[in-house]
Amino acid sequence: MKLLPLFTALSAVVLPAALVSCQKLPLSTSSRWILDADGQRVKLRCINWAGHQEVNIPEGLNKQSVDYIADFIQQQGFNCVRLTYSIDHALNPDVLISDSFVAAAGAANVSTEDMNNMYSQIAEKNSFVNGATTRAAYEAVIAALWKRGVMTILDNHVSKASWCCGIDDGNGWWDEGFGYNDMNSRYFKTQEWLDGLEKIATWSISQPGVIGMGLRNEIREWLLQGTNGREDWYNFLTQAATRVHTANPELLIIMGGTQSATDLTHIRVNKTIDWSAWQGKHVWEWHAYSFTVTFAIASGNCDLLKQTYGLFDGFVLEQDKDYTAPLILSEFGFGMTGGPNSGLSDDDNSYFQCLRDYVTGNDGEWALWAVQGSYYVRQGTVGADEGWGLLDTDWSQLRNPNVTDLLAPMFKVTQGP
Ligand SMILES: *[C@@H]1O[C@H](CO)[C@@H](O)[C@H](O)[C@H]1NC(C)=O
Ligand SMILES: *[C@@H]1O[C@H](CO)[C@@H](O)[C@H](O)[C@H]1NC(C)=O
Ligand SMILES: *[C@@H]1O[C@H](CO)[C@@H](O)[C@H](O)[C@H]1NC(C)=O
Repeated sequence: MKLLPLFTALSAVVLPAALVSCQKLPLSTSSRWILDADGQRVKLRCINWAGHQEVNIPEGLNKQSVDYIADFIQQQGFNCVRLTYSIDHALNPDVLISDSFVAAAGAANVSTEDMNNMYSQIAEKNSFVNGATTRAAYEAVIAALWKRGVMTILDNHVSKASWCCGIDDGNGWWDEGFGYNDMNSRYFKTQEWLDGLEKIATWSISQPGVIGMGLRNEIREWLLQGTNGREDWYNFLTQAATRVHTANPELLIIMGGTQSATDLTHIRVNKTIDWSAWQGKHVWEWHAYSFTVTFAIASGNCDLLKQTYGLFDGFVLEQDKDYTAPLILSEFGFGMTGGPNSGLSDDDNSYFQCLRDYVTGNDGEWALWAVQGSYYVRQGTVGADEGWGLLDTDWSQLRNPNVTDLLAPMFKVTQGP
């Protein structure tokens, strides 16, 4: 009942009916396109939903029921969610949610009482959490989304459950790679990562509407890492993709470049990755924010910025190359309030207008960062607000209603095979 006013307001948003019908799975790729089981193009229009921090369940269940959040996502027209998780979770799915909040207090160095209070709020909004495991929370979210025709991409965001992605967070580059660096690799245990991905892939077989897996968010080399022609990138991602595909051959395999998913140039300049072991499933991903490729952003020249996007990532959409495959802009976003320009800051506005033009020009796939209006705990702050959240702090409505118009052109499908 509480939903009605929200939906009345949202009904003003005109969405093509196709956006809310279920896709026929599994998905596959052909050239730069993602196709459904009938061979029709599927354009991914996704939103990120974080779950990779210390508590190890999707954020926001203390604010609204799973059904409320899933309704909201569907009503906004998104056809998929990029749902993030840690390798800690992948390898320890049977932790009780109540225990996970206590453990998170220790891991995040915050008060146990605060975390227990937060757990009580969750139990109020989502009674299923009583006696349930963290894995069950993921399953509830995935099921609620697919009931509404919303697909899920499972994204391995970090190894050690925590906020991502500083150069000193220990989650950036494989510990078995060349040029080991403690700051950037102490938690990125290569074998645990491979095992965790395989376990998630196996579990995903039973999960409705899961269409793909992102092998690792924002891989980033530091100092000597990557200086061997990025051989570790080729090697470990090939191992991971092969294991995921063997465990669940239906999934799309999504991988990004280095420099925090902004740089695939080695694919263009040196050699592509050999995806014969996961043929017809390969998808590239990239990220673009107002603080990435800063030299091009700083120029204030949109043509230069678009050229830069093309040289670093967008080139993979060019037809008939050995690297040609679909490409999803799996993270982009901006502060949802502040100043003129529909509530975007000047910097965010010029970056976003240009990026949007680039993505709509290619009719590319995308995932906005992010739906969450708050976090259970982020970087030592219990209940931290997310100013980039599509939802407000209470997860009840849009933080900035202007965002609907801002994103509208990106929902349109203008090209196809
Ligand atoms: C934990 O937080 C307290 C303050 O609440 C601080 O004094 C202490 O240094 C922190 N410990 C770590 C390991 O960050
Ligand atoms: C291409 O490979 C060479 C030789 O391994 C390496 O020096 C160079 O950095 C690589 N280029 C890119 C863009 O990765
Ligand atoms: C929406 O856009 C208008 C016009 O640019 C702006 O004045 C207003 O502050 C924006 N709303 C929010 C919440 O940012």
